[in-house]
Amino acid sequence: MARLGTDAARDLADIRRALPAASVTADAAFGARLAAHFPALHGLFRRLYGDRPDALEALTGVIADAGASWAARPADLKAADARREQDTGWYLSNGMLGGVCYVDRYAGDLEGVRAKIPEFVELGLTYLHLMPLFAVPEGNSDGGYAVTSYRAVAPHLGTIDDLQQLATELRANGISLVLDFIFNHTASNHEWAERAVSGDPAYEDFYLIFPDRTMPDAYERTVREIFPDDHPGSFVQLPDGRWIWATFHSFQWDLNYANPAVFRAMAGEMLFLANLGVDVLRMDAVAFIWKRLGTPCESLPEAHLLLQAFNAVLRIAAPSLLFKSEAIVHPDEVVEYISLGECQLSYNPLQMALTWEALATRDPRMLRQALERRHALPDGCAWVNYVRGHDDIGWTFADEDAAEFGIDGFDHRRFLNAFYVDRFPGSFARGVPFQENPRTGDARVAGTTASLAGIEAGDPHGVDRVLLAHAIALSTGGIPLIYLGDEVAQQNDYSYVDDPALADDSRWVNRPHYPAEAYARRHDPSTPEGAVYAGLRRLVQVRRSTPELAGGRLVPFDAKHPTVLGYQRPGGADAAASADTTVVLCLANVGDAPAAVDALTLSGFGPEAHELLTDRRITLERGIVLEPCHVAWLRVRTADAPPRF
Ligand code: GLC
Ligand code: GLC
Repeated sequence: MARLGTDAARDLADIRRALPAASVTADAAFGARLAAHFPALHGLFRRLYGDRPDALEALTGVIADAGASWAARPADLKAADARREQDTGWYLSNGMLGGVCYVDRYAGDLEGVRAKIPEFVELGLTYLHLMPLFAVPEGNSDGGYAVTSYRAVAPHLGTIDDLQQLATELRANGISLVLDFIFNHTASNHEWAERAVSGDPAYEDFYLIFPDRTMPDAYERTVREIFPDDHPGSFVQLPDGRWIWATFHSFQWDLNYANPAVFRAMAGEMLFLANLGVDVLRMDAVAFIWKRLGTPCESLPEAHLLLQAFNAVLRIAAPSLLFKSEAIVHPDEVVEYISLGECQLSYNPLQMALTWEALATRDPRMLRQALERRHALPDGCAWVNYVRGHDDIGWTFADEDAAEFGIDGFDHRRFLNAFYVDRFPGSFARGVPFQENPRTGDARVAGTTASLAGIEAGDPHGVDRVLLAHAIALSTGGIPLIYLGDEVAQQNDYSYVDDPALADDSRWVNRPHYPAEAYARRHDPSTPEGAVYAGLRRLVQVRRSTPELAGGRLVPFDAKHPTVLGYQRPGGADAAASADTTVVLCLANVGDAPAAVDALTLSGFGPEAHELLTDRRITLERGIVLEPCHVAWLRVRTADAPPRF
């Protein structure tokens, strides 16, 4: 076959000729999108694979797969594509609310998830991330993140048909389905992996396999260890003595994206998922997908090109889907993944970690600095703001940022780790260490929100801290995401140590089973479960009826108190254009004592305010007092605006 050329139009004409006419030309909508997005895809292919003789062949395959996928795309999904082409910012609404759970742990199987839809609706969910539910190896599968086949549901959870029906039913209830796209690696028993090690020429270049330690040693000079408890470094040895790249567990083998056939193969798996009715793909472990000797092999420029190329394929064949980036890295790197042409959504690991940092130190300065400096995103993109996920909490703040407050990053992480695993006097937290590395001093923390915030320890402010942390996630913009079970104050589950498949991975402490008893108490506000549930419901309801909380725009506000975090939410661009002059001023007291924000500090606003959470009209002329670990969401007028109250 010919080589990939410089002229996109000519290559597209060649590709069209190489494919059966019906697959790529018959459908006008597909033809138009192909014409619109092919040049970008072609350019990305040139940058990634321009030197390879097989690049054009792979690109031709991608277009063929995209055409076939579009032809097979169900009518209701094509209708959703058309709807969302009109309503491009649907996910920026203040009505968005996410939840995440493991299918088996939370609901038994897919049928069980379906049965819980009324509960999801009661909570107000519009987005549901089901943790990986694909076929996996027996025993340890890293919670499903080692995938044996992307085209089969794990038999104990259900079938592909069940998944498709669930997606349809969720959509009918206003809930978007979010699934993982685990594309950095496959399980070691994936068919591609088995063919690769057995020497099948079509697959031997799908993974990174080396005959001896020469190359692994060379790479490991600059690559960090991710799961040192599982194996040191980033390679594991095969039974025949060769070494294969495995960033995470020994049974999760990294794909070799320098081979364009790998891109084509994974794009095919992505399109299969898209046609099941998935709305958002959570792009797992994005930082690791490209390797180059002499670098950390994280967040390399090609990682972005690959994501953009996957995104271009979607725009052609499943245009309503979004990507959510899972980059738990330095904040400068996190934002590089976020743009309309790459990942429109991203976890916000910095805000997550600094919320916990502020609760431990009772000092919101680092969080405030992050909101001032690292919050703004390109138009149309959004953070997914969460209090904790299924993984550990890592202290991913920038040392340079901390240094501005005279804080040493290394020491501060040491303190935070000690604090959250209850090795610091007076700590309210009951987390457990994850991947403690004595050699580097590195460690992360595992635990549920309730256990980390003080409820397990019986701390008097535990419930309020859980609510405060969620109030921040619910008011800083983007899509707030609740780890299901946290809304009823679910505590750590220490039983994982008894299961040999889980015992070595302490993240299971924060992945408990569905807490039936806690849910049964959710309407009894005298219990922590009920108090958290009622408080969270209130936050969700108020958020939903407060247009100023839509979108992601945020204006910092200095509350001039050492334990109070402040920021203003002016609403989306539309609100500003319509000369709406109210903003919501959010104040959060991370301290254990009441905090007074004085009248002078608030004098830039009109004297009357509406506290939305308690639905009270108050005057700001005497300032405002915040109880320990409490928040206020104040609808205020900027002083020069005409009275509206
Ligand atoms: C992501 C997942 C994590 C998993 C890893 C490897 O970070 O969130 O649970 O261990 O990727 O797939
Ligand atoms: C992620 C992160 C790492 C995290 C792990 C899952 O991709 O880079 O810090 O701990 O995978 O737990």
